[in-house]
Amino acid sequence: MFRKHGLSLSSYATRLRLFSTSVRIQASRSIIYTQNGQPSDVVRALTTPTLPSPPPQTVNLRFILSPINPADVNVIEGVYPSKPQPSSSPEVQGDVFVGGNEGLAEVISVGEGVKGLKGGDWVVMKASQLGTWRSAANIRSEQLLKVPRFDGLSEVNAATMMVNPATAHCLLSHFVTLEKGQWVIQNGANSAVGQAVIQLARNAGLKTINLVRSRDDIDMLRQELEDLGATHVVTYDELKDKKAIKAKVKEWANGQDIRLGLNCVGGESTTAMAGLLGIDAHLVTYGAMAKRPLSLPASLFIFKNLTAHGFWLSSWYKDNGKEQIKLVEELARIMASGNFKEPRHESL
Ligand SMILES: NC(=O)c1ccc[n+]([C@@H]2O[C@H](COP(=O)([O-])OP(=O)(O)OC[C@H]3O[C@@H](n4cnc5c(N)ncnc54)[C@H](OP(=O)(O)O)[C@@H]3O)[C@@H](O)[C@H]2O)c1
Repeated sequence: MFRKHGLSLSSYATRLRLFSTSVRIQASRSIIYTQNGQPSDVVRALTTPTLPSPPPQTVNLRFILSPINPADVNVIEGVYPSKPQPSSSPEVQGDVFVGGNEGLAEVISVGEGVKGLKGGDWVVMKASQLGTWRSAANIRSEQLLKVPRFDGLSEVNAATMMVNPATAHCLLSHFVTLEKGQWVIQNGANSAVGQAVIQLARNAGLKTINLVRSRDDIDMLRQELEDLGATHVVTYDELKDKKAIKAKVKEWANGQDIRLGLNCVGGESTTAMAGLLGIDAHLVTYGAMAKRPLSLPASLFIFKNLTAHGFWLSSWYKDNGKEQIKLVEELARIMASGNFKEPRHESL
């Protein structure tokens, strides 16, 4: 998590102004890159002058928090399908890209013709790849979504709602209609998306089987996920004994078919997870953390009528602009209710 220090920067700028009228005020910091590559090799910080007043239809923002998601790294590497728009800066030669796709910002000032936003409002990014790793930005108002400032909605939850909780929400609701008491199985369950799935599923009365990698402190992880609402936590190693795990799952689910499987890992353990799905199930792949192909036996399609899907939030956002407003409202309400724990984070 990349925390901005707007106040200390502006007080620094004010002090500069007191000392000399010829010194240019350097008040905005961005994390930029000019070419694709390993982030540690290509990103650097750039200081730019204070923003002028916002032109018509735009707003000036102060970023409060801007998360780092795995996809942000892929964008910098140049291997992600979404590409950021380049901008230019007199301080740097060539095209400049600001990192970051997600972030919570406060509206500082609005340009002529902007409707529905005013100073002090919280906003998140409606458009993708706007470059959020910066302390200030001028952005067109139609590229932003206002976040309702419900009591109890924390900055951390608001800053991280548009990628992981939004993905979890779509994964749980777009592919199959599940009734209270029905089951979902997922891998990468300790990821930010996985933790959001656990909590949203619990809030909806669903049960979850959660697959994770084994580790020395597996009991601690198991407990953490159970505290979030995980019904069962299973390691990929435990999947290797196919007969035993099938019997266990059958007993847990009381013979009910598991109709939704969520995959962000890939490789052999996902093939094993798919084998635990019941008749007419949907397997949704939204990530590939193991960087291994996904292979599914034909028998699952022939005898169990499995449907396999892919899901990409950016593409869903592009096609469902109006739904985004509802999604923000719904997530903000759930988060403000206290039934959604903030993701583990560090503020830098
Ligand atoms: N399709 C979409 O629209 C969409 C939206 C959001 C996120 N995603 C994807 O969802 C995934 C999770 O994102 P996130 O931000 O929630 O991640 P995260 O919090 O950074 O967690 C990463 C997860 O991946 C696991 N992992 C890493 N390498 C692995 C490997 N070789 N084998 C098995 N598991 C491995 C980690 O497990 P350990 O703790 O064991 O390392 C952890 O559970 C990513 O692939 C991301 O790109 C997709």
